[in-house]
Amino acid sequence: MQTRPILFFDSGIGGLSVVKEARVLLPGRPYVYVADDAAFPYGAWEEEALLDRMIGLFAELIERYRPVMSVIACNTASTLAIHRLREAFPDETFVGTVPAIKPAAERTRSGLVSVLATPGTVKRQYTHDLIRDFAAQCHVRLVGSEHLASLAEQYMREGFVDEAAVGAEIAPCFVEENGQRTDIVVLACTHYPFLVNRMRKTAPWPVDWIDTSEAIARRALALSVNLPKSPDGNGADLAHFTSGAPVEGYRRLLSGFGFTIS
Ligand code: DGL
Repeated sequence: MQTRPILFFDSGIGGLSVVKEARVLLPGRPYVYVADDAAFPYGAWEEEALLDRMIGLFAELIERYRPVMSVIACNTASTLAIHRLREAFPDETFVGTVPAIKPAAERTRSGLVSVLATPGTVKRQYTHDLIRDFAAQCHVRLVGSEHLASLAEQYMREGFVDEAAVGAEIAPCFVEENGQRTDIVVLACTHYPFLVNRMRKTAPWPVDWIDTSEAIARRALALSVNLPKSPDGNGADLAHFTSGAPVEGYRRLLSGFGFTIS
C-alpha cells in the first residue's frame, strides 16, 4: 500500500495550529506540511495573482505528494480559493477554513462581534456573505491586521513577541456602543491562536476568543472515514517550504510538531 499523506497548507506556520488538533483526532496518518513562505504574507496579495499562484502550486503539490486530502489551513487562502481548487482538481478532497462568524453570532450576548483577520480575508466576498447569511442581527466589526501574522511567525521562531505591538493590532476589535461592549473576537487567521495568551493579556477587557482549529480538524476527521487507508506514519512527516531555505528557527519548530523539512 502506498503512503498517501494528509497535506496541510498555509502561507507560513499558522497551519500548525490546525495540525496540533489533527494530531489528536487523526493520529497515525502520514502528514505533509506545506508553507508557501516564499509568498508570505498572503494577506497582502491581490486576489487574481494569489489565485493563479495557488492553482499552479497545488498542481505541483498534488503530483508530488498525492495527498488523500488537502486541508487549507489558512483563512486568507481558503476564502479566496477553496471553490476554485475544487473546480480545478475535482478528484481531490479539500477541507477549507471559514471565519467562525456563525458560531460567534450564536454566542454573543452584547451583539457586538469582531472578526480579526488578515487584510485579504476582511476584503473577501466570502466573508461578507457569511456576515449577511449568519450575523445580520449583530454588529460585526471586521479588523484587518497588517502585522499580526508576522508577529506570530516571529513568536514561534524566536519565542519572543512585542506585547505592545500585539495590543496595538487587536485594539480596534474592542467597541463600546450604547452601553454594550464587544464580547467575542473571532480569530479568523490560523496564525493567531499562537498569540492568544498575549492577546488576553493586552486586551482592554475580557472577551471570548473563537479559534476554529479544532473544528477544522473535526471536519478532516469526518471526511477521512471515506478516504483510502494509509499505512501508519513512521513519525518522519515532511514539511515543504516553498522558499527552499527556511531559517533555522523553523527547523526546530517544525521538528517539535513532528516534521522534518525536506
Ligand atoms: N494563516 C493565514 C490565515 O489563516 C494568513 C497569514 C498571511 O497573511 O499569510 O489567514
